[in-house]
Amino acid sequence: MFHHILPLLAMIFLASTIQGGLAEDYNIINNATSTAGGARFDRDIGPDYTRQTASCATEFIWRVFQQTNSTDRKNVQKVSIFIDIMDFVAYADNNEIHVGNNYIGNYTGDVKTEITGVLYHEMTHIWQWDGNGQTPGGLIEGIADFVRLKANYVPSHWVQPGQGDKWDQGYDITARFLDYCNSLSNGFVAELNKKMRSGYSAQYFVDLLGKNVDQLWSEYKAKYGH
Ligand SMILES: *[C@@H]1O[C@H](CO)[C@@H](O)[C@H](O)[C@H]1NC(C)=O
Ligand SMILES: *[C@@H]1O[C@H](CO)[C@@H](O)[C@H](O)[C@H]1NC(C)=O
Ligand SMILES: *[C@@H]1O[C@H](CO)[C@@H](O)[C@H](O)[C@H]1NC(C)=O
Repeated sequence: MFHHILPLLAMIFLASTIQGGLAEDYNIINNATSTAGGARFDRDIGPDYTRQTASCATEFIWRVFQQTNSTDRKNVQKVSIFIDIMDFVAYADNNEIHVGNNYIGNYTGDVKTEITGVLYHEMTHIWQWDGNGQTPGGLIEGIADFVRLKANYVPSHWVQPGQGDKWDQGYDITARFLDYCNSLSNGFVAELNKKMRSGYSAQYFVDLLGKNVDQLWSEYKAKYGH
C-alpha cells in the first residue's frame, strides 16, 4: 500500500518545491581533488554536507529576507558549488559559488564550521537583490555577512560591534552596523533588500529608519563609545 502512495507524495512534494521558485538543485564539484585542500574538503566536509548546508542556507536567507513565496524571490533554479584551485577564499557569480582549495587546506581549526559560514555568505549573494547593479559593493558584502551573523557562524577574526571607519566598508564592519540598524527596526535588512530589487538610493535608510545613513553611523559609533 505504502509504496503506491509514496511516489505520489514525492511528486506532490517535488511539484511544490519547484513552484516555490527553486528546484532544490545543488551541484557540488570538487575540482581540486589532487590538492591537500581538495582532499581535506572530501574528508572533513564533503559534497552531501555541502548540499545540505546550501539548502538550509537558502531557507534561512528567505526567512531573514521575509520572502514568503516565489514572487518575492530571485528566480534561481540551480546552484553549482565548485572547490577550485585558487587563493581566494570564495566568490559567487552567475549562480555559481567557488571556494578556494588553499583556504580549506590552510585553515587551522574547525574547517567544517568555517566553510559553513562561508557558504551562508556566498548563498546570500545568490539570493540578495543588488539594486540592478547600483548597490554599493560594501553594502552587498555587509548584507551577506549580516546573514552569516544571524545564522551564528561568526568567525573569531571579525571586528566587534562599533568598530570600523565607514558604514559601507563592507563585510563584518557593515554587518555589525546593519545589525544595529536592524535592532532599531526589526526587519530593516529584509525591507532594505526588498527595496533593492530594482535600484538603490541612500534615501532608503531615511525611508526605513527616519535618519540618513551618516547620522545612523555616528549614533552607532557613539553607542559603543567611539
Ligand atoms: C577545473 O580546474 C581546471 C584547472 O585548474 C580549470 O581549467 C577548469 O576550468 C576548472 N573547471 C571548473 C568547472 O571550474
Ligand atoms: C506573496 O507574498 C506577498 C507578500 O510578501 C503577497 O503580497 C502576495 O500576495 C503573495 N503571493 C502569493 C501568490 O501568495
Ligand atoms: C596553503 O596555501 C598555499 C598558497 O597560498 C599553498 O601553496 C599550499 O599548498 C596550501 N597548503 C595546504 C595544506 O593546502
